[in-house]
Amino acid sequence: MDQTTRQLIDRLDADRSLPLEGYEYLVSHYSPMAAKRLEQLAVVRRKAVYGNSVFIRGLIEVSSFCRNDCYYCGLRRSNEACERYRLSDDEIFDRVGAGYAIGFRTFVLQGGEDMRFSRDRVASIVSSIKERHPDCAVTLSLGERDRDTYAAWRDAGADRYLLRHEAADLAYYETLHPSNMSGETRLACLQDLRDVGYATGAGFMVGAPGQTSAHVAADLKFIEEFKPEMCGLGPFIPHHSTRYAHDAAGTVEQTCFLLSIVRLILPTVLLPATTALGSIDPRGRERGILAGANVVMPNLSPSDVREKYAIYDNKAHTGVESAEGLEDLNSRMGEIGYRIVVDRGDPATEDPINDAGETKGAIVAGDPVAAV
Ligand code: 5AD
Repeated sequence: MDQTTRQLIDRLDADRSLPLEGYEYLVSHYSPMAAKRLEQLAVVRRKAVYGNSVFIRGLIEVSSFCRNDCYYCGLRRSNEACERYRLSDDEIFDRVGAGYAIGFRTFVLQGGEDMRFSRDRVASIVSSIKERHPDCAVTLSLGERDRDTYAAWRDAGADRYLLRHEAADLAYYETLHPSNMSGETRLACLQDLRDVGYATGAGFMVGAPGQTSAHVAADLKFIEEFKPEMCGLGPFIPHHSTRYAHDAAGTVEQTCFLLSIVRLILPTVLLPATTALGSIDPRGRERGILAGANVVMPNLSPSDVREKYAIYDNKAHTGVESAEGLEDLNSRMGEIGYRIVVDRGDPATEDPINDAGETKGAIVAGDPVAAV
């Protein structure tokens, strides 16, 4: 690790901020030593806020229909080979009930931009879930909608919303999307989500086609400034029926490096070790947690649809990637010194490490998952 990298890492840890060129330098000077140093600092920050708790979210993929045509995504509208499905309200409630019974207290309803999931229908699904399980958080991840729709869902009880910004560099955003989509609209949606009161999640793919260190630096600066409560970072993985079928996937190393950097920028952020990370490495989830992540989102969709929600090739949906594998996930987290908790896992509002770098005392939330 060169001198500049070392200084940038220390500065990032102290200030939670770097100039744009600093981020770019850091991202383009990956080395195992730099990754190790970032990881150590990220773990200190994360532990001070969340202890050794890992939060779980039950992920329910409600629809593979999508009106968009993002060039990298297997669910893109023009992919005719994609088998489409949408869950009924009862199927969704059934999966929520099954998840509740095994310890999930946050449910993520995720899907393509499927207008059959109308404003009223989603509002009614959310309010039913909250009525049945008032102790649970509901997270939505249903793409770009208008502000009134976001507000109606929030009024119905939705707590959080995930909408990756995908690329903060607007010219680069355009290369990944058709011309009817824009980075400006995406960012405006994120602002609407925040304004109507959601805990808001942004994020981007690591190693996406054509992505440079300067693009990633812009993403990090955006994260620093917008301060999302959640941040989804996973490797890009090619899908065979997209134009990027033969592009290289993002790497575990680069993804973990960026997870650590994001943890240093936002010590309280809820940061998942994503399914994509678990899909490119059998120990991806653990490696993500060890780099500073603190959330895992096992798949709680009905098993017959999991194959169909194919955003990218070889998406993991069994074993520890599935809700049924919770016990296994729990023991694997135990092996690396962490514990899964039964808890809504809300974003912490306070970072107990003060500016002098001293720990005031950890906030440790939740009951451990006992016998799932
Ligand atoms: N590889 C990895 N992640 C992808 N996404 C879409 N396509 C891919 C892919 N090929 C991510 C995007 C999107 C989320 C639903 O999944 O970031 O926001």
